[in-house]
Amino acid sequence: MNPLNHVAIIMDGNGRWGLKNKNSRNAGHRAGIDTVEKIINETIKNNIRFLTLYAFSTENWKRPKKEIKFLFNLLENFLNDKIEDLNKQKIKLKIIGKINFSTRLNNLLRFSEKRTTKNRRLQINLALNYGSKVELIDAFKQLKDNKEVINEKNLKKYLQTKNVPDPDLLIRTGNTKRLSNFLLWQLAYSEIFFEKKLWPDFNEKDYNKIIRKYKNIKRNFGNI
Ligand code: FPP
Repeated sequence: MNPLNHVAIIMDGNGRWGLKNKNSRNAGHRAGIDTVEKIINETIKNNIRFLTLYAFSTENWKRPKKEIKFLFNLLENFLNDKIEDLNKQKIKLKIIGKINFSTRLNNLLRFSEKRTTKNRRLQINLALNYGSKVELIDAFKQLKDNKEVINEKNLKKYLQTKNVPDPDLLIRTGNTKRLSNFLLWQLAYSEIFFEKKLWPDFNEKDYNKIIRKYKNIKRNFGNI
């Protein structure tokens, strides 16, 4: 059975779910939060050490201002309500992506990271204003500025996921098969599962089914 240390998830389908069920894309984002909580709890039950969630990409700024504002309000409320709970559960929160939002949200994100920094049970990497191409370009720039040899080991030091093992498993909900500029380097050897269900409909049973399938895959890493 394959070990499972790191799950990465592209939580797609909130907008479609909201339009279909409540005639509002934002209602889908709100419902998506419940799934986030379910999946965090199930990740802990499965003893998985790292969970990376794609919450907002560098491309998502193209969305209408109203939707962006709603998303960041949701995030702010979620952290204000839950950060102490997360801390009690020994969860460490790490933001990957550039923290350049409102001063209030920037401070809340930094506070949440600091508050939970010593925790070791589960690390959640929340990808916010994250884009893999920007991450790689920044890493190469730092290699160049520091006049370092370009190799895998040195590059990894400058990725936002330094100190985090590459994802073993990537799940994308929402019936779309693409990577959307997410962890392009880190996903080189991950097992990928595309799930038809929209994110708000995805549940513990679906998650465990994928985990079971993943554990039985023969992973070769280029070998035979
Ligand atoms: C993708 O669905 C979802 C997002 C861009 C946002 C995901 C955010 C959340 C689930 C809430 C974030 C908050 C926390 C606390 C993690 P979409 O809008 O692209 O859906 P569509 O493909 O149906 O349009």
